[in-house]
Amino acid sequence: RNVSLIGAPTDIGAGARGASMGPEAMRVAGLAEALRARGVDVVDRGNLSGPSNPWLPPTDGYRHLQEVVAWNQTVHEAVYNELKTGRMPILLGGDHCLGLGSISAVARHCRDAGKKLRVLWLDAHADFNTSELTPSGNIHGMPVACLCGFGPKELIEIGGHVPAISPKWIRQIGIRSVDEGERAFVHEHDLEVFDMRFIDEMGMRHTMELALATLDDNTHLHVSFDVDFLDPVMAPGVGTTVGGGPTYREAHLCMEMIADTGRMASMDLMELNPALDEKNRTALVAVDLIESLFGKSTLMRK
Ligand code: ARG
Ligand code: MN
Ligand code: MN
Ligand code: MN
Repeated sequence: RNVSLIGAPTDIGAGARGASMGPEAMRVAGLAEALRARGVDVVDRGNLSGPSNPWLPPTDGYRHLQEVVAWNQTVHEAVYNELKTGRMPILLGGDHCLGLGSISAVARHCRDAGKKLRVLWLDAHADFNTSELTPSGNIHGMPVACLCGFGPKELIEIGGHVPAISPKWIRQIGIRSVDEGERAFVHEHDLEVFDMRFIDEMGMRHTMELALATLDDNTHLHVSFDVDFLDPVMAPGVGTTVGGGPTYREAHLCMEMIADTGRMASMDLMELNPALDEKNRTALVAVDLIESLFGKSTLMRK
C-alpha cells in the first residue's frame, strides 16, 4: 500500500483556534514511522497553504466562508491528484470543514473510476448544519450537509458535481451531539446514524457489522475520523469535546473491523487540537488507532 500524508494546517472552520497545528502534532507523534513499520510505503507531501484565520464573527450564517472555500479547493485538488496516481491520501487536518474538499475529491475519483463510495463518518457530531440551522456559523459543523448539496454554491460545487455524494452512502458512528434544527434535517434526509445509544445497546461489533455491510470489491471506503469521536477521557486535544464517547477498546475494535474489510482507500484525520492537548497524548492515541486501521493486531503478523 502507498500512502500520501497531506497536511492542511488551518482552523478556518472551527470555533476554537489550534487545529491548524494538527498535522505537525501527528508527525511528531510518529505517524509516518508507525505506518512504515507496518510495511506501508509512506510519502509525506508536507503542508498545503491557504488564507490565515481572520477570526471574525459569522456573516449571513457563515464564519470565514471565502477562506473556507479557498482551503477546500486546495484540499480537493491535492486529494484528487493523489487518488489519480493510485495512492491513498491521508488528510491531516485541520478542522472538519475540510472533509468537504477531501470527500468531494474522493467522490470525483469514484465517478471517474466507476466505483461505489461508502463514507464512514466517525464523529461526536453529525456536521449536518446549514446556515439557517447552525447555532455557531462554524463551517466545520456543515461539511456533510454541503457534500449532500445543502450549502452555499461556492462550497457545494467544489468537485463539479452537485450533490457530491448521496446521504445513502454515509454511515455516521459515535454521534452524541446534534443541534435542534440539525436533528430534523438528519431525519428528513434519512442519514444512517449509529449514535452512542445504539453503540451502548448493540455494541461496537454489531454497529460496525451494519455500517460495513454491503461493501463489495468495487466499493471505495473513505474514513472521515473526527478526533472528537473518541471519549475525551483519552482524547482531550479537540475543540469540541463531548463526553460519553467510544472507549479506547471500542475505538480500536472499530478501526480493526474497518481494516478487516481491506477496502479503505482514503481517510481524513481531523480536528486534532494540540493547543488543548496534554503532552501530545491525543495525537499518540490517534497514531495507535491508525495503526489498527492499517491492520495492526496482537497475534497476526503484518
Ligand atoms: N454542531 C455544532 C456546530 O455546528 C458543533 C460542530 C462541531 N463539528 C466538528 N467538526 N467538530 O457548531
Ligand atoms: Mn482508486
Ligand atoms: Mn465533531
Ligand atoms: Mn466533525
